[in-house]
Amino acid sequence: MKTLIINIKELLQVRDASILKVSGDEMAILPSITNAYLVIDNDFIADFGSMDDLPEDLNPEKCIDVEGKIVLPCWCDSHTHIVYAGHRELEFVDRINGLSYEEIAKRGGGILNSAKTLNETSEEEIYNQSKVRVEEVMRLGTGAVEIKSGYGLTVDGELKMLRVIQRLSQNYPITIKATFLGAHAFPLEYKENRKGYIDLIINEMLPEIGTTKLADFIDVFCEKEYFSVEETEQIMEAGIRFGLKPKIHVNQFHSIGGIQAGIKYNALSVDHLEIMRPEEIEALKNTATMPVALPSCSFFLGIPYAPARDMIAKGLPLALATDFNPGSTPSGNMNFVVATACIQMKMSPEEAINAATINGAYAMGISETHGSITIGKKANLIITKPISSYYQLPYAFGSNLIDAVIIEGNVFA
Ligand code: NIG
Ligand code: FE
Repeated sequence: MKTLIINIKELLQVRDASILKVSGDEMAILPSITNAYLVIDNDFIADFGSMDDLPEDLNPEKCIDVEGKIVLPCWCDSHTHIVYAGHRELEFVDRINGLSYEEIAKRGGGILNSAKTLNETSEEEIYNQSKVRVEEVMRLGTGAVEIKSGYGLTVDGELKMLRVIQRLSQNYPITIKATFLGAHAFPLEYKENRKGYIDLIINEMLPEIGTTKLADFIDVFCEKEYFSVEETEQIMEAGIRFGLKPKIHVNQFHSIGGIQAGIKYNALSVDHLEIMRPEEIEALKNTATMPVALPSCSFFLGIPYAPARDMIAKGLPLALATDFNPGSTPSGNMNFVVATACIQMKMSPEEAINAATINGAYAMGISETHGSITIGKKANLIITKPISSYYQLPYAFGSNLIDAVIIEGNVFA
């Protein structure tokens, strides 16, 4: 099936196939074509260019006229916990009343609260709750998403989550990458026996995951009161033995050396980065590890934003993701992430869009097929409403400016 889109006011993020991420000053450049056309062949981008050069012999089965509208690649959300059960609304109110995220966790709330609910909920019900969120983010323009386990914290619970992720990826056109996050928190019964839980991850969970091939990546919450640098390294090393590349949570509340550990184990990404030391920015230079900022988490918890300007000024690339989860970020809206990055982190619209598309794709290992308008890449497109310029996207931060979302060549309604 061939679809032709014509009269595109501006086609954004037009890239050569060789560009897999953008760093430093390059992030300020968002290549585009004004008054453009684009051809979709089944699920991939077959051609595009200026309307002045529109070939006459295309013979498309379908033609969409998008006069006045902008087209850009779908968002690539490289960090979510979209599969979960229930919610944590009560903790939200506790925080309004003065308790911190860390204080709530110390009382047995937080991740352990979600783990209790998840283990009490059937796989079918977790799937049904999670698919509503997947459909929501697709409507909001996300065409690829990474989803973590980490609310099971038992062999059965973790595998249950990973099977739900697999089922979502089979039933929806959105590209899904799965991450095993058994090392999200220590279950209460292992509080005094940390080694016991790490042994469970390494000797029982990982072999099952290796056999079932239910995960692409391994994650660890490297943080005070959670997993130490030494424990994080041990778990990354074991994950790598089972073919899982690391993508880790670091520097959310404290800088304890997680970034250096991630680099040492060639992590695909290091995520959160609310607390950054200059030497950590330095350490990330000239590595293959993508720094990932999660501004909605900073917004929701009232914690610092990742220092985007400092990182970009030092020549680093930066990706943006939602962190969609029931505790620190109950939102999967990448449009809000892009706006918040501009407003709070002082990223330019060009930098934020690069961070949420091509660099997001890199941070989940799919930038050869996603994240830009490139011949041969997936036809994952956001068609905006008629807007004056792409600045509107972060500027009108509370408005939904999306007219239609095309995922793998089909309009998702
Ligand atoms: O990325 N920080 C660790 N994990 C999640 C929060 C999980 C939760 O609170 O349920 C995060 O913010
Ligand atoms: Fe997270």
